[in-house]
Amino acid sequence: ESTLGAAAAQTGRYFGAAVPAGRLSESAYTTILNREFNMITAENEMKMDATEPSQNQFNFTSGDRIANWAISNGKRVRGHTLAWHAQQPGWMQNMSGSALRSALLNHVTKVAEHYRGKVYAWDVVNEAFADGGSGGRRDSNLQRTGNDWIEAAFRAARAADPGAKLCYNDYNTDGINAKSTGIYNMVRDFKARGVPIDCVGFQSHLGTTLSGDYQANLQRFADLGVDVQITELDVEQGSNQANIYAAVTRACLAVSRCTGITAWGVRDDTSWRDDNPLLFDRSGNKKAAYYSVLDAL
Ligand code: XIL
Repeated sequence: ESTLGAAAAQTGRYFGAAVPAGRLSESAYTTILNREFNMITAENEMKMDATEPSQNQFNFTSGDRIANWAISNGKRVRGHTLAWHAQQPGWMQNMSGSALRSALLNHVTKVAEHYRGKVYAWDVVNEAFADGGSGGRRDSNLQRTGNDWIEAAFRAARAADPGAKLCYNDYNTDGINAKSTGIYNMVRDFKARGVPIDCVGFQSHLGTTLSGDYQANLQRFADLGVDVQITELDVEQGSNQANIYAAVTRACLAVSRCTGITAWGVRDDTSWRDDNPLLFDRSGNKKAAYYSVLDAL
């Protein structure tokens, strides 16, 4: 196949990209986006600060631009993200306790209801686990409302959009380590108790090495009965970039429940990182990493 999306579709998978709404008016950008990718994530526009700038006053203008562009061009949408410690609106940052719990669940409900029928999968909760060896939760205003805030968010999301797959999404989970094991134990518990969870996202913001058990880690989650997805892939530019992209792609293809890969951007000049981590260079040319992914798909 000649594009990432078409090549991924040969095995029933997708290949996506994160997109900022502002780029949709740049034709050089949308030409690549439309040609290569068949899943779209809003880079910032569906986050809590963007969608609920004042409490219970929702603004879906930019998120809708992205979702409508995707759907009108025959692409699916990954919703990102309903609940996160970061990029909260100011009014939420200072809330706590039961008022925050209610505000969070209202946010999850209203945003998921707005996009009902348009979203393939939601990152319901993003980055709720701590880095390092504890395997426990990250401290945040949300976590301080009680350890069950994550399952409450998943239940609210399911009620609001029963057709969307509901994912937990995190980073530094690129192998079997204390953090990924903490998440694994949570997902196992959710499945055992019937908490609605369908998928786990592995952000995969990578440096110059890839953990040797990257695939085994995906597989152990899949074995719990959830889909797995690579949700925010980008890889530090360097001699190993193309190899790491290929290894991640092969790992996903080797796991039958790995349903797709999303790159966290299109061209290097639009990346949130400054180390040229994407598949297209600043001029929109295909990089070696692009060809290695296409080859691996
Ligand atoms: C990043 C965006 O790319 C930036 O534009 C923004 O300034 C900060 O957030 N993990 C996530 C993404 O889940 O939402 C983050 O996106 C990157 C890290």
